[in-house]
Amino acid sequence: MEITLEDDSSSSPNFEYKGAHQAFRDRWKGTDDTMCRHSMSFHLHHTLRSEFFASYLYLLEKTPLVKLFPVTCEYIKGEKQFYYRAQQFYEDVPASEEGMMGDFVEISNADLEGSRQFLKRFVVSHKILTSTGPGKAGTHCALDCGSGIGRVTKGVLLPVFVKMEMADMMEHFLLHAHEEYLGDDADRIETYYCYNLQEFTPPKNKYDVIWMQWVACHLTDKDLMNFLIRCKKSLRPNGVIIMKDNMARQGCKLDPIDSSISRHLDIMKIIISKAGLEVLAVEKQEGFPEVIMPVWMIAMK
Ligand SMILES: C[S@@+](CC[C@H](N)C(=O)[O-])C[C@H]1O[C@@H](n2cnc3c(N)ncnc32)[C@H](O)[C@@H]1O
Repeated sequence: MEITLEDDSSSSPNFEYKGAHQAFRDRWKGTDDTMCRHSMSFHLHHTLRSEFFASYLYLLEKTPLVKLFPVTCEYIKGEKQFYYRAQQFYEDVPASEEGMMGDFVEISNADLEGSRQFLKRFVVSHKILTSTGPGKAGTHCALDCGSGIGRVTKGVLLPVFVKMEMADMMEHFLLHAHEEYLGDDADRIETYYCYNLQEFTPPKNKYDVIWMQWVACHLTDKDLMNFLIRCKKSLRPNGVIIMKDNMARQGCKLDPIDSSISRHLDIMKIIISKAGLEVLAVEKQEGFPEVIMPVWMIAMK
């Protein structure tokens, strides 16, 4: 994922799309069932809808079906294009803070500080004496998903948790974390999982906090929902999942270069609720330039 520039400055609410959605529904209602099932367009719609059950109408409003399908659901070398493209993209990304932050490394400190403050609300620790939130999560072990080189692990999580685990699909990021970036603190990383999150099942009943930053955008709605379901099972009692990501000001926005999809907060909440999770708190990251797409933090259990 790259930090995405927001070209749509409108802040109109999501329901502006309602008219178009109704039009889609009405069209399908009037279509003969049998004819529908035999048409190619039905097949493409059906596949897209099952992968992007919460986002697909918003995606279709910006990109026609014939263009949208190939860059998301079509298979290339045995892999969905959506994931194949992201892999290709990150292979060329350097294992550095600049690489993790795209062209916006200057906002990294504000980002980490916002995350530290948000995290405080959910953990109880002898180290965090100022903890004032409703949280009761312990500080024994956390998992950083889509960790990259461990920018968040180092700046937010390692100061709080006794030990950590990291998961990312790119081996060169994890290697750099272990060999260089985390320094002596690498000793407190219990396991590095080199996995695609859509195929990864974290160990059961293990983590006080699971952090997912700028990686939910790289999963289809269905894979994100299923991953969240698996994450829920891997939380310890009172554990929380914290997601931090770009959220579109309206609808959804697909970046076909790195295969990331920015969803409006309400759309993200639909996926979270389908995963059977309860939202504990949401907070917008402050201090980022206006040109950047809003970044929100969501805590859930
Ligand atoms: C923009 S970087 C963010 C890294 C880190 N979370 C941070 O905030 O510094 C996105 C990371 O997600 C990883 N990633 C993207 N898609 C993934 C997937 N399907 N499974 C696992 N990791 C993925 C990339 O390899 C990359 O390290």
